Amino acid sequence: MPRLNHSPRPGASLTVLGIETSCDETAAAMVRISQGAPTEVLSSVVLSQIDEHAPFGGVVPEIAARAHVQTIGSVVTKALRDAEVGAVELDGVAATAGPGLVGGVMVGLSFAKGLCLALDLPLVAVNHLEGHAVSARLSEDAPYPFLLLLVSGGHCQLLEVAGIGAYRRLGSTIDDAAGEAFDKIGGALGLAYPAGPALERLAAGGNPARFPLPRALLGRAGCDFSFSGLKTAAARIAESLASDAERRDLAAAAQSAIARQLADRTARAVDIYLLSHTPEQRRLVVAGGVAANGVVRAALQDLATSRGFTFLAPPLAYCTDNGAMIALAGAERLAVGLIDDLDVVARPRWPLDAEAARLAPTHLPGRKGAKA
Ligand code: KG4
Ligand code: ZN
Repeated sequence: MPRLNHSPRPGASLTVLGIETSCDETAAAMVRISQGAPTEVLSSVVLSQIDEHAPFGGVVPEIAARAHVQTIGSVVTKALRDAEVGAVELDGVAATAGPGLVGGVMVGLSFAKGLCLALDLPLVAVNHLEGHAVSARLSEDAPYPFLLLLVSGGHCQLLEVAGIGAYRRLGSTIDDAAGEAFDKIGGALGLAYPAGPALERLAAGGNPARFPLPRALLGRAGCDFSFSGLKTAAARIAESLASDAERRDLAAAAQSAIARQLADRTARAVDIYLLSHTPEQRRLVVAGGVAANGVVRAALQDLATSRGFTFLAPPLAYCTDNGAMIALAGAERLAVGLIDDLDVVARPRWPLDAEAARLAPTHLPGRKGAKA
């Protein structure tokens, strides 16, 4: 459990190193926050392990953990050097403590603990999802509260974000995450992992109406998502395709079906959000790797415009996993005095809204488990 530091530093400028190792990117960044001034990303280093995992068609946990061990030292050193900030100017070290592949999480978290011990700095154990939640604030004026759609390879959920550490989950996936659907359908179309960006390129110019795909949950009450039916249907069609034109059309159909579902569920969350927020608080933020997709962004932008919401999306570099979002979450926690003990553990599962997890058993293993 995070504990309240005795010296919260609201108002002061805070410089924090952030470390991210929960999946297949070894990342570190330096971020500075100062009251009344825009957030400064002083450096951001992201080293992808994609080439090592590509032959296996997905991320292999053991390979990921070993690769993090090999590269964490040089990635953190480069982040410190690029920022031209000495260790003495650091106010804290933040590291992803979960959810994710626990071997990798342990590498980054242990490295951060070592730095904190050596430099006598506070440690902030950051929930990876909280990193995505604040990612738009790295580059945009995105004051709290806002409605958040978090769509990545491992997660798909809608949250009301009242402030750092204050989340209410409105909906989540009942099976696959949206990024997983992109990756699996792309894989069936012969694209290398992670297939989301390549599927977007393949879909350009394709006809999304050629192949009808299941319209899961469309128009249904609630804000939950489901992508497994769509994924299976698209993969089955992919097996029978002969031409590149057909592959383009199927990619376009899948992409538009995913975007349509994301916008439909978000529209329902907008209704719920409006019940307890003022017109001035109409802000919709999208975050996570799938937020890099142009068709998804356009669908959400249209929804936001039609409901009078400001639409905010991080630049592409901050949509996918990075250290800057972890550093910012850490800095915001530090600013309100939230730090962690050095014996904090790495957590493979860690829902963002602890209260909802306690009240509803949807975070148990299995259906609505890890990906929720
Ligand atoms: O946030 P992220 O880097 O890692 C997780 O925390 O999961 O998200 C990675 C996911 C992958 O599934 C990848 O295929 C997807 O984001 N993605 C995209 C695009 N760029 C990344 N999906 C669709 N279109 C894109 N342009
Ligand atoms: Zn992520």
